[in-house]
Amino acid sequence: MDYHPYTAAIRTAQFHDLSDAHCEPVAMTSAYVFKSAADAARKFSGAASGHVYSRFSNPTVQAFERRIAAMERAEAAVAFASGMAAIVAMAQAWITLGRNIVCSRDVFGTTLTAFRHHFGKLGVEVRVVDLTDLAQWHAAIDDRTAFAFMETPSNPLQHVGDIEAVARLAHARGALLAVDNSLLTPYQQRPLDLGADVVIHSAGKYMDGHGRVVAGVAVGAERLMADLRGVLRVTGAALGAMDAWLLLKSLETLHLRMAATSANALQLARWLKASPKAVDVIYTGLATHPQHALAVSQQSGYGGVVGFRVPGGRLGAWSVVDSLRLISIATSIGDTRSMITHPASTTHGKLSAAERGQAGIGEDLLRLSVGLENVSDLMEDLDLAMAGLPDHEPAAGPLHDALALG
Ligand SMILES: Cc1ncc(COP(=O)(O)O)c(C=O)c1O
Repeated sequence: MDYHPYTAAIRTAQFHDLSDAHCEPVAMTSAYVFKSAADAARKFSGAASGHVYSRFSNPTVQAFERRIAAMERAEAAVAFASGMAAIVAMAQAWITLGRNIVCSRDVFGTTLTAFRHHFGKLGVEVRVVDLTDLAQWHAAIDDRTAFAFMETPSNPLQHVGDIEAVARLAHARGALLAVDNSLLTPYQQRPLDLGADVVIHSAGKYMDGHGRVVAGVAVGAERLMADLRGVLRVTGAALGAMDAWLLLKSLETLHLRMAATSANALQLARWLKASPKAVDVIYTGLATHPQHALAVSQQSGYGGVVGFRVPGGRLGAWSVVDSLRLISIATSIGDTRSMITHPASTTHGKLSAAERGQAGIGEDLLRLSVGLENVSDLMEDLDLAMAGLPDHEPAAGPLHDALALG
């Protein structure tokens, strides 16, 4: 039966141990017992299905994979020890001599480092394009492209990529399109329905939702996931059973948490927009976002990440961070607890000033991962933290310049 996604997230891939416990068991085992030598041989060769060793598969991990696949309405999913392990596995699976990767510029920084550095040194050409510029995607994707990769909306600048259009461009040249959907989850965006071939999640973000685990998952057609399973078997970047169990439980409430976090984020974005202390507010849910119409057409929600700029460059931004009492200074996203980051000195600190400038990561930019606290408390915390900033003037005045550290 084809259940509603909320039901699928709660009921898909339930399994019970001999005690009839209602909750799925945590299969804390590395090995599995075979019925006979012939049974072992059949399972090792793949002639019969069944668990062999937990680097290859594990019942609790498999339940998590099946649940995610149901939520993304995909044939299959493969869990990994992290989002990065899932991303690198794609390159390991599909890159062969002479092939290239086309990747949008503002993806998670380590994604680009992995492609450029670790595959670039093997002679793989990595073509970096502007997420929002279809002409650049068109020019970069060719018959040698193994896969195109985008993260939409991007983090923290919330640029939106046109999934359907880029999927068409990729398919016309025989390439795959992979989309990092960590920021929105299947509840707010389903890239496979828009033509993408693979969806990647850093599952320790909204899927876990409580900041407890590092995990990743790739989702798509069985023939593609079989390639990734092959990579997993040799790299061993397998998700542990305990982490898979935590994720299974969290998926059951993901619809409620995504609705609550994005409702909080929209209210905060609107409130910041009206504040004289915020120079610019970046959130795809605001009608003023330059790509709001595209976001509306392919997203069913806007997630919990809000970017904003404050007067005073780095000094102004740091003064806000250091004055907060409730919101945590932490660089992850997707926790019940709201977190703030100054990207220029943390997540993007390894880029040169010129690269940061090109990427739009200014010293005045702050990223808020909006959690599930009461939104009035979050507003009060920010209000007090921003009280010392000068009111924003449309043009930079002397005070603005005096505060800027560059
Ligand atoms: C959007 C996005 N994709 C991928 C990753 C990498 O995932 P992980 O940290 O699970 O390796 C992150 C990590 O922060 C991320 O924010």
